[in-house]
Formats: sequence, structure tokens, C-alpha cells
Amino acid sequence: MIEEKTFNNGFPYIEINNAMAEAKIALQGAHVFAYKARNRPALLWLSTKSHFTQGKAIRGGIPLCFPWFGKNTEDETLPQHGFARTALWELAEVEALDDGSTCVRLRLCESRESLAQWNYRFELTLEVHVAESLSVQLQIKNRDTKAFEIGTALHTYLRVSDIEDVKIEGLEGSSYYDALTKRTQVQEGNVKIKEEVDRVYQTKGENIIVRAGVQSINIKSEGSSSVVIWNPWKEKSVSMQDMSDTGYKSMVCVETSNALADRQTLAPGETHNIGALYREEGFNTN
Ligand code: BG6
Repeated sequence: MIEEKTFNNGFPYIEINNAMAEAKIALQGAHVFAYKARNRPALLWLSTKSHFTQGKAIRGGIPLCFPWFGKNTEDETLPQHGFARTALWELAEVEALDDGSTCVRLRLCESRESLAQWNYRFELTLEVHVAESLSVQLQIKNRDTKAFEIGTALHTYLRVSDIEDVKIEGLEGSSYYDALTKRTQVQEGNVKIKEEVDRVYQTKGENIIVRAGVQSINIKSEGSSSVVIWNPWKEKSVSMQDMSDTGYKSMVCVETSNALADRQTLAPGETHNIGALYREEGFNTN
């Protein structure tokens, strides 16, 4: 079943409920802000202080960064992570599949507002497959007559039982750019988070596992050769208006991306796909 709903302020979202899972997707940003497979805990972290207000990014779930990741290098006054996460997308298609799962497609094309910030014609299609696993696939199409370069990310906030217990596997041996020290280093062993972390790993991220206690979340990325790991830790959480002071304790962002040297150039008519499959393994609430 799929229902079109709004918050009290009129902010629209859709709710999907099928035999395998439930999910909520805001039309602003095609933003998946909740997903839970049956008999498993919620996969995505959502800030208790998140905005659900037109024009403000949701803090949690899966924000989509496009057409640049982080700050715009040419004009720092433009919004961080681009405009796709705060633009209103169109609900293009809903498909109930024979196996009981649901596929939703949302679309965004250039608008007067987007052209004022980034003068290219494009089409984004986000396909969200709500099943025992969550699959999120973004297709980016160049509809312009000139080539463009893009930075993209599925800026996924994963819910973890306790950040102090988190071990991220699958990044060992990858080099990463540390945005805090501005240095490039090589990852030795699993990633553990004991302070603010803001890194771009050079890896395809085809098999990343986030473990915390009995929790085990498996992530398979496609179309990406960079994975961002982010946790704001205490001081930054306190300074962020849409995050509680202790919010950092129960989240970690593992972002399938095309960031830094992995930015993609698309010729006119060309498409690029980036996506991820998420599955919570080590948990059963039965
Ligand atoms: C991460 C970046 O992806 O997103 C961080 O690497 C940034 O530098 C974080 O602070 C959150 O960004 P925002 O714009 O949602 O506050």
C-alpha cells in the first residue's frame, strides 16, 4: 500500500507499507527518511530535531547531494551539497511487484531556480525499491547541449546502537582524504569513530559492513569510487540547530558518492547511475 500524506505544515511525503518493509519518502529531495524491514529495527537515523520545512534539508535518512558534493568550489555562497535535496521532485511511478515489494520512481529536471545556480538541463530519476533490503538508484542524465561535471552522494545516515561500538569493515587499505586535517592517509584495519570524522575514501565500496554490537548493516555501492564517512561528534552536534546534543551517538553517515577526483563528466545525452543496496543482517526482533 502506498499513501500520499503531508505533515501539518503541508510538507508532502509518501508512505509505503508492504509485506516486506515500510518506508517514508519526502517529495522534497526524493528524500527517503524512514525505512524498516519487517522484524528488523529502523535502518536509517533521523534527527529528532530535523526540519520538515520547504527549502530546508532534512537531517537524517538519505539526502541526495547533486550537482556538487560539499561546498561549491566556484561560488561558496551556493548551498552546500547542491540543490537537489531541497528541490520538490515529482512522483513519477509506483509499481507493486509480484513478490510483494514496491518500487517508486521520482523525477527532477532543471527549473528556473536550478538554472540560476547551475546553468545546465538535466534529468534525475531516483528509483527506491522497498523490499527486505532497501535499494536506492539514482540516474543522472545530461539533457543539455554541453558537457557538465557533477559531484553526487547518497548521504545516508545509518542508525547505530552506539557510535563507540561501531566498526566499519571494507575500507581497509583504501586511501582517504581527511577533510579535517586536509591530509591523505591510508586506512589501517576497520574504521572506528572516537571523535569527529569527515573523510572521503577512494574505493568502490562494493561490500561495506557497519557493525555495532549485534547490529550488522551491509552496504553495496554501484557507480561510485568514493565513499564518505561522516560523524560530527559532540561539539559540532551541539552547534547544529537541527541535531540534538547527543544525536551523534546513534548515527554514522556512509555515503556512496562521486566526490573529489571521482566527480563525473557527462557528455550531452549521457547518463550515469549511482546507487546502493542496504541490508540489516544481524538483527531479528521476533
Ligand atoms: C558530509 C560532509 O558529507 O556532510 C561534511 O563531508 C558535512 O563536511 C556533512 O558537514 C553535513 O552537511 P550538511 O550540509 O548536511 O550539514
